[in-house]
Amino acid sequence: MKFWKHWALPFKGGQRNCYIEQVARPLRIRAQFTPSKERSRSKLHAMPTDRKPEFFKGAQLRVGIIGCGYVGLPLALRFAEAGHRVTGFDTDPKKVEMLNVGKSYIEHIQQTKIQQYVNSRHFSAATDFSRLDEMDAILICVPTPLNEYREPDLSYVEQTAKSVQPHLQKGQLVVLESTTYPGTTEELVLPILEKSGLRCPIAAGTENENVAGDFFLAFSPEREDPGNKQYGLAQIPKVVGGVNPPSGRAAQALYGQVVAKVVPVSSTRAAEMAKLLENIFRCVNIALVNELKLLCLRMGVDVWEVIEAAASKPFGFMPFYPGPGLGGHCIPVDPFYLSWKAREYDFATRFIELAGEINTSMPYHVVESLGEALNRQKKSLKGSKVLVLGVAYKKDVDDLRESPTLKIMEILQKRGVEFEYNDPYFPHLHKMRHYDYSNMKSVPLNPQNLGKYDAVIIATDHSSYDYSAIVDGAKLVVDTRNATRRVIRNRDKIFLC
Ligand SMILES: NC(=O)c1ccc[n+]([C@@H]2O[C@H](COP(=O)([O-])OP(=O)(O)OC[C@H]3O[C@@H](n4cnc5c(N)ncnc54)[C@H](O)[C@@H]3O)[C@@H](O)[C@H]2O)c1
Repeated sequence: MKFWKHWALPFKGGQRNCYIEQVARPLRIRAQFTPSKERSRSKLHAMPTDRKPEFFKGAQLRVGIIGCGYVGLPLALRFAEAGHRVTGFDTDPKKVEMLNVGKSYIEHIQQTKIQQYVNSRHFSAATDFSRLDEMDAILICVPTPLNEYREPDLSYVEQTAKSVQPHLQKGQLVVLESTTYPGTTEELVLPILEKSGLRCPIAAGTENENVAGDFFLAFSPEREDPGNKQYGLAQIPKVVGGVNPPSGRAAQALYGQVVAKVVPVSSTRAAEMAKLLENIFRCVNIALVNELKLLCLRMGVDVWEVIEAAASKPFGFMPFYPGPGLGGHCIPVDPFYLSWKAREYDFATRFIELAGEINTSMPYHVVESLGEALNRQKKSLKGSKVLVLGVAYKKDVDDLRESPTLKIMEILQKRGVEFEYNDPYFPHLHKMRHYDYSNMKSVPLNPQNLGKYDAVIIATDHSSYDYSAIVDGAKLVVDTRNATRRVIRNRDKIFLC
């Protein structure tokens, strides 16, 4: 009998993520080094000084991508595919080693693709940042998380700018891709790069169309959606804004070679803000449906039915879906970059704060719903045995950054619930920034095992789960994603929340 489709999945992703958290982070700073100024100065004249933005329309450019993660690696492979010579720079020597032998550490990035470009010498990886001086363009794709006070942590961007600075060459194009608040490129990256003695003046307008500078600097936000099979990097339009018009044109010329459409804006600030608007739009709309879900639950109305009905309107409506809370590296994090910056202007971003409040309350709602469902069976939350399905922040990805499941597990722990988890993408968990689940292993899903728990929480709706079999085998199913909508048998065991 076929019960558990996910058994067929390769369980590599979780191991990679464990590795990223445990090994890569401590090595980050140590691996970076700065060779002597003499060495880089002696190469200053190797680049043409009169390089025009149109140069970046050319073939066989040398492109350096700093940060070979979820964003940088696909970007590097796309430039390689377009025929350029790409070097991926990363502070993590293990990742660099893997890339240079054609291995992938990200579930949805195919090994064969990396191998192909390593073999054709279109792609290689390096920890040696002195090689940045050989590049025509340098694209920065390093993390921009929040610190423990939920304020922007720009240390990775700052550190990267400092690594570029000693190797900066005349005529080079530097583009920041990391998501950040408006002003970062001009206020943080530019002053560090200009410590090299090279200049890139901040300027706008037609009168500055050809303003002179030593290097080009731009911001272009990444819109990568890992695992999205419909829109890959090449199909997603890219917004580009320069510190001055020639920088904008240089970045447009470069990206025009690898994406279907480039959308120029007048400044780096506009490009930085555009990315934040996209993510705030999602964050606020998700909060809206989460709040409406809570009301619908009280009113006895099926919120998912309501959303499907509203989505039949062919204009002016876009569906968003409720869930156990926000997850991923972007949506729970990026809006707070703007709220933080807004304070400098005596401005309160109330939509962002309200959305944050609603979304962060959702894991608590899940645990309260579990308590209510158990109560109906004359059981208490404390001392109950619970299986949590899915730790990834969304379905079918090997990424648990900011996953609401981690918060749910923390609340369960505090309320005295004995819980285990299953996730085909994470065979075991590890110590993270905010949580330590280092001793936990994904338990097998089978009917005998399922029957042991007082309840099963569906936290992430992976496609590989067989929901009918889960409902059949479980005593009670608390479904946070409406994943059981097609289940016909035993619906009385399902508690939608
Ligand atoms: N992951 C996404 O879906 C996504 C989508 C759009 C935008 N973004 C944004 O893109 C940026 C990168 O995110 P990501 O998901 O690729 O992060 P990631 O953690 O997957 O990758 C970052 C990489 O940078 C490396 N690194 C860290 N510090 C470095 C340094 N000083 N020099 C060189 N390498 C360094 C790390 O080892 C890692 O390989 C973030 O600003 C993020 O908000 C991410």
